Amino acid sequence: MSGASSANADFSPPTAPTATASANTNIALIKYWGKVDEALAIPATSSLSLTLEGTRTTTSVSFDGGAGTADSVTINGSSPTGAELARVSRFLDLVRSRSGVCAPATVISRASVPLAAGLASSAAGFAALAAAASHAAGMNLDDRALSQLARRGSGSATRSVFGGLVLWNAGHDDASSYAEPVACAMDLAMVVVVLSERYKPISSTRAMRATMVTSPLFPAWVEASEEDLQVALEAVQAGDLERLGEVVEGNALGMHAAMMAARPGIVYWLPQTIATLHAIRAMREEGLPVWATIDAGPNVKALTEGARAEQVAAALRDRLPGTTVSVRRPGGGVRIEEGS
Ligand code: PMV
Repeated sequence: MSGASSANADFSPPTAPTATASANTNIALIKYWGKVDEALAIPATSSLSLTLEGTRTTTSVSFDGGAGTADSVTINGSSPTGAELARVSRFLDLVRSRSGVCAPATVISRASVPLAAGLASSAAGFAALAAAASHAAGMNLDDRALSQLARRGSGSATRSVFGGLVLWNAGHDDASSYAEPVACAMDLAMVVVVLSERYKPISSTRAMRATMVTSPLFPAWVEASEEDLQVALEAVQAGDLERLGEVVEGNALGMHAAMMAARPGIVYWLPQTIATLHAIRAMREEGLPVWATIDAGPNVKALTEGARAEQVAAALRDRLPGTTVSVRRPGGGVRIEEGS
């Protein structure tokens, strides 16, 4: 880690407070893909997401001196090293520089959903870390400021600060790039189809950079995405699930088309990803309200109506034997846990 020296560790208070916070993960309906400013994580486009219930990561932070000269980080019982540890420490350095706290930290984090569930873990992880670390450092951030801070850990974490439907305004600098909740009277749910538990062949940060720099389709995707977001917001306001579903599926396919056109092309899909897309189309033809979205991996999430979610999940299990299918309903935002 870079910011906390052993000299600083000597100044840590004898009983540094521990703060514990939790956050759910979220799935984008209108995607974020590409940063115009990598250091500040300012995205190329605004995005819209649904925070999912039962997907909390719970994280405790104390600036208590950590491992002496460095932060001590435990995630799901094991200690990350290399780039993963450096990413957490860089984020803690930001909190230290803003709060004036100097000591290395002890961070203990546990995800309630295993990685194998096919749900992005960094959104929940960095939203919970931002809340717990800022609280432990005595910063009193409102939700907007927390969302701006979480953005520096992972783009999608910006949105996990809030529950339900969430809009991340791309903005143009640190102050103008933040998320906010969007009123939604619709009964929405996501059905998650796990096709592979493997890690990504290429990280989203690297894949975004490659798409922006080398894909001739990237500018077209950015332009389409702005319009897609307006259509999605109008559909939400009108309670029009079909219009929302169509633009959600189109936006995700457009994002993947842009990355496939990068040089060399980035292909996160597996044969079963395409089989799932076809299954979803066939189910729509039979009258089920279901539309696909896909993130930086092979797994498919299906947007549907809450009241039909179990029926959609059963139909997907029937058509895709051997896959793991689960229903996820809208969930709440960041929570500071009792006793912090
Ligand atoms: O937050 P990151 O760097 O993991 O990027 C997430 C990108 C997508 O999941 C593909 C899209 C999104 O908006 O969440």
